[in-house]
Amino acid sequence: MSITEVDVGGEALPGESGLPEFDVGEIERRLAAGRNLPTQCYLDEAVHHFELDAVFGDAWQYFAPVHHLRAIGSRVVGTVGRTPVVVIRNDDGQLRGFVNACRHRGYRLVDCSASEAKSRMQCSYHGWVYRLDGSLAAVGRGETDKSLVKDALGLLPVSVDVLGQGIFVNPKPDAGKLVDAFPGIDRVALDIGLDPDLNRYRPVARYSVEQKSNWKLWYDNGTECYHCPTVHGASFGAAFDTTEGVYSFNIHGAYSSGYFESTRNSGVELVGGDFRSLQLFPGTQYIQHNDLMVMGRVVPTGPGSCRFEADYLAEDGADPDRVEQWVKLWNQTYDEDAVVVERIQQNLASGRIDELIYVDGMEDVSRHYHGLIWKAYRRHLGG
Ligand code: FES
Ligand SMILES: [Fe+2]
Repeated sequence: MSITEVDVGGEALPGESGLPEFDVGEIERRLAAGRNLPTQCYLDEAVHHFELDAVFGDAWQYFAPVHHLRAIGSRVVGTVGRTPVVVIRNDDGQLRGFVNACRHRGYRLVDCSASEAKSRMQCSYHGWVYRLDGSLAAVGRGETDKSLVKDALGLLPVSVDVLGQGIFVNPKPDAGKLVDAFPGIDRVALDIGLDPDLNRYRPVARYSVEQKSNWKLWYDNGTECYHCPTVHGASFGAAFDTTEGVYSFNIHGAYSSGYFESTRNSGVELVGGDFRSLQLFPGTQYIQHNDLMVMGRVVPTGPGSCRFEADYLAEDGADPDRVEQWVKLWNQTYDEDAVVVERIQQNLASGRIDELIYVDGMEDVSRHYHGLIWKAYRRHLGG
């Protein structure tokens, strides 16, 4: 697949429609009892828009593999929270991120991701031209308007940082360093044996699924393996040992780590070596085992919809046939998850089920992330 076919989003999101009302006492009772947030948080348009700001508006999310931005002038577009974003490789070799909107009349500046070198970004509406550092270079026929101050009309910045070989974006222009949001993550990665450098991996495929499910259901599902033997018996559960006490998830504040041993008698004839993962709040997932690496994120697209997108990277020297089998195995695993979460969403929408139960010892990480979501709500509400 060529990079020009890879568009990690870029759709316009509707504007904020006012703060929803929450019953604080009820939510805190539910979370303390190991239950989920109220059903309104899975169905209401207002809560969806609120979360785009409260949860995703000032958080780091995985965006793309560094490999896609090797050349100066290469670019990747996508959406983080409600912010349309373009990340480029600048003339001086640095990664820079901007709101992907022309400063003239707000048109989307860069249409799609591209790996070829380009020295300028030109808006296709009226032709304004920007340099790779975001500054405005030319306004085409608008040069007749002497009141335009080009120096004040550069692209609006977002924050960009890198973890391993993954580019992360925070929509805030002054978000600081990613590692400050996830203290100790380098040490944790080393402790679980996840190679933080990842230089030996190269992108080989991309998975993307549009789901009729709230993003929180996907996130819950991706942070527990209680369901692995029942849902993924012929996929993930065949390749890795999902026996209680053999695998582990550990919580480290705003992120968690996972560790699974390989099953040595996999039904898919794959021996992956041990599996290491990191989950970074909100919605980023890093997975690494022999042959393959997965870097992905969940993108909320509506109260009852989200998209999960993941880049698959093959390890240098890995047998291409085995890599292909792994890609199929992960596609199958994610497809199975997509079915599960859509069925839960349908049942929540029926109004006949309200509280979801998170079992102690099995679904602690999912519980923990519900707590972080609520914390983000409270911070945004000023509580
Ligand atoms: S909106 Fe970009 S040039 Fe007019
Ligand atoms: Fe799953």
